Amino acid sequence: MMLDDTYIQPQKPVILTGDRPTGPLHLGHYVGSLANRVKFQDEYRQFVMIADMQALTDNMGNYAKVRDNVVEVALDYLAVGIDPDKSTLLIQSKVPELAELTVLFLNLVSVARLERNPTVKEEIRQRGFERDIPAGFLSYPVAQAADITAFKARHVPVGEDQLPMIEQTNEIVRRFNRSVGKDVLVEAQAVLSRVGRLPGIDGQAKMSKSLGNAIALSAPADQVSQAVKQMFTDPNHLRVDDPGQVEGNVVFTYLDAFEPDAALVADLKARYRAGGLGDSVVKRQLEDRLQALLQPIRERRTELSRDKGAILEMLRKHSLVARDVAARTLSEVRREIGLDYYFL
Ligand code: TRP
Repeated sequence: MMLDDTYIQPQKPVILTGDRPTGPLHLGHYVGSLANRVKFQDEYRQFVMIADMQALTDNMGNYAKVRDNVVEVALDYLAVGIDPDKSTLLIQSKVPELAELTVLFLNLVSVARLERNPTVKEEIRQRGFERDIPAGFLSYPVAQAADITAFKARHVPVGEDQLPMIEQTNEIVRRFNRSVGKDVLVEAQAVLSRVGRLPGIDGQAKMSKSLGNAIALSAPADQVSQAVKQMFTDPNHLRVDDPGQVEGNVVFTYLDAFEPDAALVADLKARYRAGGLGDSVVKRQLEDRLQALLQPIRERRTELSRDKGAILEMLRKHSLVARDVAARTLSEVRREIGLDYYFL
């Protein structure tokens, strides 16, 4: 029987993103990707993955940490406004098809190529893995390629440190498609946010939980206040009357990211540069902004965390939906490469 056209849902383009459940999500995640996800969920079919398998690539042994953070990350998602009626929120390990696809993809990537991935290189250095890299860690970009392609995602909203992952994904997609002579998998595009990478409160290049320079989305108000007070400004701006430097001054970088009133920011910058504007005034403006952003998130999170069982149940259902989608791609892949022993 032919399906009547009216029964066929128009296909929205697919988005997939994810995070490792290793700790609370922070302002860097918010500006880098979460805000975009909230925006995109209406127009796109959006999958948001809690990447527990990827988290284990450098946390073997830390099982409780990864496990306990799954629900915490889900709470962060819901608290910022990712809507479970619009987005599919899945747990990576609940979709074992991803692991199978990863194993197949590993044959399409050389070890030398894996070793060239700049983000992985940097992470190896940070973790002191230079002399003893877990093979799973070195190859997590391949697993990430499986995450993205299993859902045939065209758009991946991520921070810029993830660009090498998308590049590697697309190399795998091209190789795979060429190997079977058919465009089974689709190439993905990164969607970067308006604001670039958010530095840590200490002025280091990246906000990161492991560097201890982050402001968590769930941080209590007094912690936010404390973090703003500690924020790196211009070390040469000793007296209020001294001209201050705006470039590399974290408070201004954050104002650019979080203060919607651009004219106000421009005015503060001009007065700071000229001299006569104290750090504390600029910090107060930023703190007001951050508190206004974070307070409703925190309240929503507290409310939602009263029923973690409900969150887990939502994740279970959503993961089943996701699994169905991934399983379709995997059976296409299997068919194309001859692993379709359906008669057995
Ligand atoms: N590597 C990402 C990070 O560290 C998390 C992630 C896992 C991801 N799978 C993904 C991001 C798929 C985008 C798409 O933040």
